[in-house]
Amino acid sequence: MSAVKRTARRGRFIVLEGLDGAGTTTQVERLAAVLRAEGHAVLTTREPSDGPVGVMIRQALTGRLVLPRGAGPLAPETLALLFAADRTDHLKARVLPALEEGQVVLCDRYVLSSLAYQGASLPMAWVEEINRHAMPADLTLFVGVAPEVAARRRAARGGPEELFEADEAQRRIARQYEAALRRRGKGERVVRLDGSQSVEAVTAEALEEVRRLLGRKRAGRASR
Ligand code: TYD
Repeated sequence: MSAVKRTARRGRFIVLEGLDGAGTTTQVERLAAVLRAEGHAVLTTREPSDGPVGVMIRQALTGRLVLPRGAGPLAPETLALLFAADRTDHLKARVLPALEEGQVVLCDRYVLSSLAYQGASLPMAWVEEINRHAMPADLTLFVGVAPEVAARRRAARGGPEELFEADEAQRRIARQYEAALRRRGKGERVVRLDGSQSVEAVTAEALEEVRRLLGRKRAGRASR
């Protein structure tokens, strides 16, 4: 992976993170629309991915994939390993090729989600270890909302509740996000956005950060 890591840095890898209901999916779409209108080549993608392991994960999250003989949902460790495995395939199939082409990759969730969600029931150091292969994003935008706000938005959205969407679980995950941000925020570029604002205001804040990153890239190229 290290050779790939070195060469696949022509594009920019931007990740959006937050609780279920924080609005990351909406923001990925809105950012992509603006950047495309400005002439950037943009790939929007997400984790769990649409690859084979990602499909399995989605089945597990909605209770369609369970252990035999009524033994219940997959073990948390299994799920953590599946998320890490899906990430490997996702990088290979979608992210790295797009970065090679110089695209801006906007990804809905990445390693920080594993640290927050799987780290809520497993040692975070282990979750970090099984994700060591995953290259850091160039920029992570954390859309911060209070768990109660996220819960109201999920309720308004409707649909069946997924594995991690119970209110108590989300409160725990919110605390884990804070711990993960403290842990990763030093070595990586992670910016916190105020997700309680209007959708438009969050997009504007996010765009400011994205433009700063992309501008830096252009400046870097010009000086070579
Ligand atoms: P989500 O983005 O909510 O997908 P959808 O909108 O299709 O429901 O992601 C699904 C869930 O997976 C969400 O609750 C967060 C969780 N998740 C993890 O627990 N670990 C991870 O590493 C990732 C990427 C997601």
